[in-house]
Amino acid sequence: MIRMSRIKKVYDTGKVSFEALRGIDLDVKENEYIAIVGPSGSGKSTLMNLMGCLDTPSDGEYLLEGKRVNTLTSNQLADIRNGMIGFVFQAFNLLPYASSYENVELPLLFSGMRGKLRKNRVIEVLNKVGLGDKLANKPTELSGGEMQRVAIARALANDPKLILADEPTGNLDTRSGMEIINIFDELWQSGHTVIVITHDVNIAGRCQRIIKLKDGMIHNGNGDPEK
Ligand SMILES: Nc1ncnc2c1ncn2[C@@H]1O[C@H](COP(=O)(O)OP(=O)(O)OP(=O)(O)O)[C@@H](O)[C@H]1O
Ligand SMILES: [Mg+2]
Repeated sequence: MIRMSRIKKVYDTGKVSFEALRGIDLDVKENEYIAIVGPSGSGKSTLMNLMGCLDTPSDGEYLLEGKRVNTLTSNQLADIRNGMIGFVFQAFNLLPYASSYENVELPLLFSGMRGKLRKNRVIEVLNKVGLGDKLANKPTELSGGEMQRVAIARALANDPKLILADEPTGNLDTRSGMEIINIFDELWQSGHTVIVITHDVNIAGRCQRIIKLKDGMIHNGNGDPEK
């Protein structure tokens, strides 16, 4: 599904440039469950942004389902994101004045799903994360764990093959964090490819494979499962 070869990412800020990724080789097969770990600043979010087509590499080649991502236009990247990738972030990133229903509906509006079909889909994914009774609640009227579940429902709306999560339990207590991880387990079991950045060893231990980043490079090779 994902094939990265010699991927580099250089950030240019004014006069200084910083090489955040320094040659990443990484293959991810369909329906893998992967944790990305490593110290702060090691390039985890940078790598995820590239995987998720939120950004493009400075060097190297990225093939996503056989498509060369490097050469796509920003519109083509947006289409890929909306069609096959679901994002979950540490800070939830929900629209503050919109209800759970409206937050989850948004990506379906973007993808052009209409009427009853759209309504049913919103309710279906909110039920899936156990929030069928909180459709009208705004983020301020939800707990942290519930907000993250709305964010997951939003990520699932378009039934993406690939779920990317950047520290999804970083702002949650242990119990809410476990609920979120249980949802990721279920998504993996139902066939999604799930990639989670985490500092939490309990979460990493649930995954099939752990990728360790350090100073912009992978430090455990590719493919050796470390459970
Ligand atoms: N937009 C940017 N412009 C310049 N430098 C950046 C930018 N984004 C990230 N960096 C730098 O690239 C390096 C890697 O950042 P990244 O966010 O990928 O780290 P991380 O592993 O996700 O860290 P954390 O665990 O703290 O989230 C850091 O040194 C960071 O300062
Ligand atoms: Mg990060």
